[in-house]
Amino acid sequence: MAHHAFWLAGREAAGDETFDVTSPWDGRLVGTVAVPTEAQVEEAVAAAEAVRDTFAATPAHVRAAALDHVSRRLAERTEEIARLISAENGKPIKWARGEVGRAVSVFRFAAEEARRFNGGEAQRLDTDAGGQGRLALTRRFPKGTVLGIAPFNFPLNLCAHKLAPAIAVGAPIILKPAPATPLSGLLLGELLAETELPAGSWSILPVPNDRMPALVRDERLPVISFTGSDKVGYAIMESVPRKHCTLELGGNGAAVVLPDFSSEADLDWAATRIATFSNYQGGQSCISVQRVIADASVYDRLVPKIVAAVEAQGTGDPSDDATDVGPLVSEDAAKRVESWVDEAVSAGAKLLTGGKREGAAYAPTVLAEVPAGTTLACEEVFGPVLTLQKVDGEAAAFAAVNDSKYGLQAGVFTRDLQTAFRAHRALEVGGVIVGDVPSYRADQMPYGGAKQSGVGREGVRYAMDDYTYERVMVLTGLDL
Ligand code: SIN
Repeated sequence: MAHHAFWLAGREAAGDETFDVTSPWDGRLVGTVAVPTEAQVEEAVAAAEAVRDTFAATPAHVRAAALDHVSRRLAERTEEIARLISAENGKPIKWARGEVGRAVSVFRFAAEEARRFNGGEAQRLDTDAGGQGRLALTRRFPKGTVLGIAPFNFPLNLCAHKLAPAIAVGAPIILKPAPATPLSGLLLGELLAETELPAGSWSILPVPNDRMPALVRDERLPVISFTGSDKVGYAIMESVPRKHCTLELGGNGAAVVLPDFSSEADLDWAATRIATFSNYQGGQSCISVQRVIADASVYDRLVPKIVAAVEAQGTGDPSDDATDVGPLVSEDAAKRVESWVDEAVSAGAKLLTGGKREGAAYAPTVLAEVPAGTTLACEEVFGPVLTLQKVDGEAAAFAAVNDSKYGLQAGVFTRDLQTAFRAHRALEVGGVIVGDVPSYRADQMPYGGAKQSGVGREGVRYAMDDYTYERVMVLTGLDL
């Protein structure tokens, strides 16, 4: 157990109070974290404001070198950081290692993008007589300091997705990690402190949630990048309608299995992927598989394969290499999942496996015939729970996917290219994954939702666009 300082304008600092971070698996103390005082939060915001212009003008090679450094150091310290993620979050160690690997890539992508970003675009204006001798040069400039608010479910990589693009464009950032899992985000501060980035350009502050509204409203922070629940995300956006808010919210990811994906090998692959990605990190990912929508022609053969693959998931101690599914982030979270499943079963859903809770652990669970209108059918469960639905034909399958207030990603198991294009057109989601589950995310691709799954896009280059705006310069009197 260690005492963790926070990072105020690039240097370590301690406040007047602390809070404890405990393991959701066995309740042991993982770390004690210092809480910044209001004066320290003000100091961080003022420092970001003071460095804003200097940081925006930092040469690309300086920002890229810092990002490369963090990427390298993450790779060197992979095992230690994966153990930290696993301890504070309860994430199985194999998934925690994967998360560190992704953060290594996020910082590397950001370094690469920093080198090529903003070369500028020239546009001749003499296409009309009024623009004779004129040329427009367009470059992107930071909108200002970013307030990044990260969730507990990827305590390292979703902090990386806030920090790295901001540094890449030269926008100062104040990052608030999740209260349940602040240690991995704070560790990123150790690596950033080893770089030459200007003081004030980054702070990592575990500000308590009840003090966040004041920070959200602070006019010196014009950009808010939030990942978390739709309730909190929309409350933030509605409290600051004139700010630029990017919201990465929930989803109830659907995996569609269509009639052409029907050989034994196809169905084995689909079942294995669905079972793995409805349960990875206890289903606590916005793109975990929550709904399987299968054509009637494959449904009866697919269901036993899914149930067997779900039952084969190894549960238990997240520090064990063999564990697939660890605890949820807290006992309260597991109790909420339990209550949703119980409600669905009372309303007539058929429980095919699972449905049991032990402390913060909830067993991998599969249900069929979940009545419409139950909480489980409508909301994001954020737990290891899968619902199965039988449909007739592609159009009914796509309509079932869209029959949700969410629209983050969908997976479509098909081998047919025309079907893939129809799915791309028809599905109201931010991403369609063909031949795999909705849970696939490559950190360089645009990631974000339609409908109530959010506003805006992450993915390194897309967040860089989001943190900046185009400013045009018109040159006149030119001999073009
Ligand atoms: C999320 O839960 O929104 C992030 C998913 C991911 O990065 O894989």
